[in-house]
Amino acid sequence: MMQQLYDTPEADLLDEIRQLRAKLGDKVLILGHHYQREEVIAFADVTGDSLKLAQHAASTPAPYIIFCGVHFMAETADILTSDAQTVILPDLAAGCSMADMADDAQVRRCWQELAEIIKPDETVTPVTYINSTAALKSFCGEHGGIVCTSSNCQRVLNWAWDRREKILFFPDQHLGENTALAMGVPEADMIVWDPARPLGGNTPEAIDRASLILWKGFCSVHQLFRPEHATAMREKHKGIKILAHPECSRGVCETADFVGSTEAIIQHVAAAKAGQAFAVATELNLVNRLRLHNPDKPVYFLSPTICMCSTMFRTDPQHLLASLREVDEGHVAHPIAVPQADQRWGKLSLERMLELA
Ligand code: 13P
Ligand code: SF4
Repeated sequence: MMQQLYDTPEADLLDEIRQLRAKLGDKVLILGHHYQREEVIAFADVTGDSLKLAQHAASTPAPYIIFCGVHFMAETADILTSDAQTVILPDLAAGCSMADMADDAQVRRCWQELAEIIKPDETVTPVTYINSTAALKSFCGEHGGIVCTSSNCQRVLNWAWDRREKILFFPDQHLGENTALAMGVPEADMIVWDPARPLGGNTPEAIDRASLILWKGFCSVHQLFRPEHATAMREKHKGIKILAHPECSRGVCETADFVGSTEAIIQHVAAAKAGQAFAVATELNLVNRLRLHNPDKPVYFLSPTICMCSTMFRTDPQHLLASLREVDEGHVAHPIAVPQADQRWGKLSLERMLELA
């Protein structure tokens, strides 16, 4: 079917999407992450960052949720919806390279290694960034831990430290580090855990001393932004404000005027006065949309090279239409179905987060 859709003129595709969308009505909810391309986001019933979309998934009565985003987002929606609801990821190959940087076996091994030095179940709260597999959310639920997103990370870290003296934070080193630094946590209290090395590359003394253990993971898109890009922008455009997503490196976040989630960046630009210029360090589709929606404010992409999330880009009108056709015909070929074993604890760690938000 996909080849036939790629051979169909775009205007016909968009027409059929419009017609099916209207026909299906409340039977379907289309969620669109801010990194989706324009032709897809145009059909989203709700657009948002990871937190906002998870909140909508948790509260919708729609029998079908089409998640225009990446795999971990659809898994999260499946955990938060009832068994009677079906979650669809239009292209199953839309993953997240950061989420792949920590797997269940590696995190369990880390926990065992920590147990050789400290008692992790008494002293460490595991915190997983929502950009992770359902198995890791389940691990956190089972071990007294929680999920965070880029928009509630500070609140979640406070929650975690209120319970136990240390945090194991995975898979994104940068979100954990940038958030903790902004909270005034001294650098000396943090260590990085490299899953490829024994004890994560740390000494037992360093593990014993640390209050924040940061998994060595990163986003391949956000790591492309550099502090020198901000310097060049400031030299070229006097008074420009630099906005960065917290998945960017410490150097970029420290030089930024504002650090926040995709939703927070959108609100920040919308609230600024006309004429204010911005250079934004996050995914290209969102930066282009900021420009489109704020014609009175010059918006630049921070990096001189293109940084796009290629997996977010996999969702196109063809895949969206194929998903709508499946709903219409009543046979969803590949729904996102988190294994039962990960549902219970995964839900607990997500609900702990949603209660905080
Ligand atoms: P947000 O939660 O800010 O939308 O970020 C999700 C993400 O994957 C950013 O790379
Ligand atoms: Fe994952 Fe980075 Fe893409 Fe976000 S931008 S979905 S973290 S690869």
